[in-house]
Amino acid sequence: MKIAFVSSEAVPYAKTGGLADVAGSLPKALERLCCEVKLFIPKYYSINENEFNLHYNWKIGEIPVKIAKHTRSAHVYQSIFPGTSIEAYFIDCPHYFHRDQIYTDGFDEDERFILFNRSVIETLQRLKWSPDVIHCNDWQSALIPLYLKENYAWDKLFDTTSTLFTIHNIGYQGRFSRLSTKKADIREDLFYPHSSIEYHGDFSFMKAGIMYSEIINTVSETYAKEILTAEFGAGMEDILQQRKDDLFGILNGIDYSEWNPKTDRFLHHHYSANDLSGKEKNKKFLLKQFGLNFNKDVPLIGIVSRMVSQKGFDLFEQASKSLEKLDAQWIILGSGEEKFEEMFMNLHRKFPEKVAVYVGFNNELSHILEAGADIFLMPSLYEPCGLNQIYSLKYGTVPVVRKTGGLADTVKDWIALSKAGYYTGNGFSFSNYSPEDLFNATRNAVEIFQDKETWKKIQLNGMNEDFSWDTSAKKYINLYNMAIRKRGAK
Ligand code: ADP
Ligand code: GLC
Repeated sequence: MKIAFVSSEAVPYAKTGGLADVAGSLPKALERLCCEVKLFIPKYYSINENEFNLHYNWKIGEIPVKIAKHTRSAHVYQSIFPGTSIEAYFIDCPHYFHRDQIYTDGFDEDERFILFNRSVIETLQRLKWSPDVIHCNDWQSALIPLYLKENYAWDKLFDTTSTLFTIHNIGYQGRFSRLSTKKADIREDLFYPHSSIEYHGDFSFMKAGIMYSEIINTVSETYAKEILTAEFGAGMEDILQQRKDDLFGILNGIDYSEWNPKTDRFLHHHYSANDLSGKEKNKKFLLKQFGLNFNKDVPLIGIVSRMVSQKGFDLFEQASKSLEKLDAQWIILGSGEEKFEEMFMNLHRKFPEKVAVYVGFNNELSHILEAGADIFLMPSLYEPCGLNQIYSLKYGTVPVVRKTGGLADTVKDWIALSKAGYYTGNGFSFSNYSPEDLFNATRNAVEIFQDKETWKKIQLNGMNEDFSWDTSAKKYINLYNMAIRKRGAK
């Protein structure tokens, strides 16, 4: 099966969040299942040609893309995805992609990804490569299904090409004014109230992705159900309802070659479920780096996150007066909205001996923190899948989470289960989005931490679970087959 995997970020090239982890690992798992995969991402300024062995593709040459009044030039660089035979293609257009950040809130954010979408299709044409499925991810690649059915419908190359659209986060929709349809070269008569691209008078990339792709999925089973409701659908619930027979949930897998405490290249002390002793050494190392004292009876709570409301930091703020009283230490890594960065910095200023904060993006530290912390906190308002709680499980770092989306599908509450006589819990969870419940769940974890035997049981329950891609990648193949069948049936 031939799969074109299109994403706006992918590890190891460019990353702001979990989409990059998925785009950097699912294609590898698909290759192991005998798919031929080509990966497409924009060539951001930060992607170093030498570091990743990128070569300019002379055969493809210049791709002119008309956007509004301008004709922009796109070029294609190529590389082999490390450790695989997957060809990675990088769409280069300095005008749009040589910026400080991967995503911007500039006036031409729509243009950047219109160019990306069109250039991917034009690259496939120049390669004369006809994928069975184009797998699009989030709004940044959501126009491809529409383009195939409209602007490129003439091209026989795509006669049997179907599309799968994966929603990693319904909160980011790519909503632009109707003028953007002109920039995108979309036929005027496709835009009218309630059409497949119109959303409250605007042009929605996300809606186009949902309406034009053969099959849609999201990144956990619970989130697939949640987004059909007004509480979680972010306004897209009615549109998703129209396509609910084609909407599925597949839990993200984990790349254990990157995230495994036994082999993690960023750790100074390796450990595993058979011998946990290295974990404490990582904790000591981490605390020392941040100038905090080690005390084996005081748990270290870690947070690694984009600092945005989605992640439940409003709730954290409301609960912080109680949380700060817990006998625990905190190390927080993240960046995003200033108000949250400030909130954590203030906590550090108030309690320098127990709270440390690193504002920024640091991949190495995210690994060391996963290994060194005892507890990992994710009080998300909503969470399509969430990867850090799954990494935490593998690292024996007990997650405390709000029971929503992928968090609900991966974290099993120790307290509720043990009350029912099952000792299979791997973490702590709470349902209501309330500061009291967040506090209670965290306090429960801090208290049970003192009972070393029970704690180890909870740690091992998590460490022995398997969230590798093997199972989920097979489910993607099922969806690909479904998309192919649907396309054929038309
Ligand atoms: P989301 O994609 O919504 O941000 P996920 O839990 O799916 O949430 O994935 C987040 C990914 O980004 C994880 O791999 C996490 O380690 C990483 N990450 C988030 N913030 C930072 C940061 N400040 N520094 C390093 N890695 C980070
Ligand atoms: C999004 C979601 C996150 C998910 C990730 C990868 O960024 O917020 O929950 O894990 O995509 O699918």
